Amino acid sequence: MKLGKMVIVIDGPAGSGKSTVSKLVAQKLGYHYLDTGALYRAVAYMLIRAGIREDDQDNFKKILAAAEISYEKSPAGMFVRVNGEDVTAHLRNEEVSLQASKISALPAVREKLLPVQRAAGRDGGIVAEGRDMATVVFPVAEVKIFLDADENERIKRRHAELAARDGKGDYALIAEGLRRRDHQDRTRTVAPLKPHEDAVHIDTTRMSIDEVVEAVLAVINRHPSREFS
Ligand code: DC
Repeated sequence: MKLGKMVIVIDGPAGSGKSTVSKLVAQKLGYHYLDTGALYRAVAYMLIRAGIREDDQDNFKKILAAAEISYEKSPAGMFVRVNGEDVTAHLRNEEVSLQASKISALPAVREKLLPVQRAAGRDGGIVAEGRDMATVVFPVAEVKIFLDADENERIKRRHAELAARDGKGDYALIAEGLRRRDHQDRTRTVAPLKPHEDAVHIDTTRMSIDEVVEAVLAVINRHPSREFS
C-alpha cells in the first residue's frame, strides 16, 4: 500500500488538540481532513433549530430520517450541509457542543452518520478525527492515534479557543460543559470514547502543537507502508 492511500485516525476528548493537529497533519501529507464531530454537531444544530428535543422520539426520528447530511472538503477544513444548506458557521458554540454530545449517544444518529464517514475513507488518503474512529468507523486504519491531555489543560485550551473566536468565555461554564461532555462521551453504551488497543497514545498536556504534529508524523513514518511510498 502506498502512503497516499493510508487511513490515519486520531481520537481523543475535547481539548486534546485533535482538530488542530489532524488538520495540520492532513496538510503536510496532502491528505483530506475529516472532522466527524462536525457531522454530529450538524445533526444537533438541525434539531435545535427545529425545536425538537432528543426525547421527542417521533419527531426526532422523522426529521433525522429525512435529513441529508453531507460535507465538502475545503483548504480551511470542512463545510457541512444539512439538506443542501451550509450550516458550518453555526456549529462551534457551547449549546451545539452539549447537544451534539447528547444526541451522539443515540444509535439512530450514529447509524445515520456511519456511511457518510466510511464513504470519506473509501479511497484512503485521509486523516479522520473523532471519538470512535479507530474502534468503530475505521478499524482498518493503518495508523491509530489517541490524543489526551490533563483536564485542566483541556479546559484552558477550550476557553482560549472560544475567547479568541467571539471574545466570550465564562471559565466556570466552559469547565462544566467540558466535564459533562467528557462524561457523556466516555460512558455512553454505543461507541464510547475509548482508545483502540492498537492506538499510539500521546499525552499533549505539556506539548506545543508543532511538537504533537511532529510526534504524529513520526508514528506515521514508522508505518511499514512508508518504505514503499
Ligand atoms: O469533536 P467535537 O467536539 O466536535 O464533537 C462534538 C460531539 O460529537 C462530541 O461531544 C461527541 C460527538 N462525537 C462522537 O460521538 N463521535 C465522533 N466520532 C465525533 C464526535
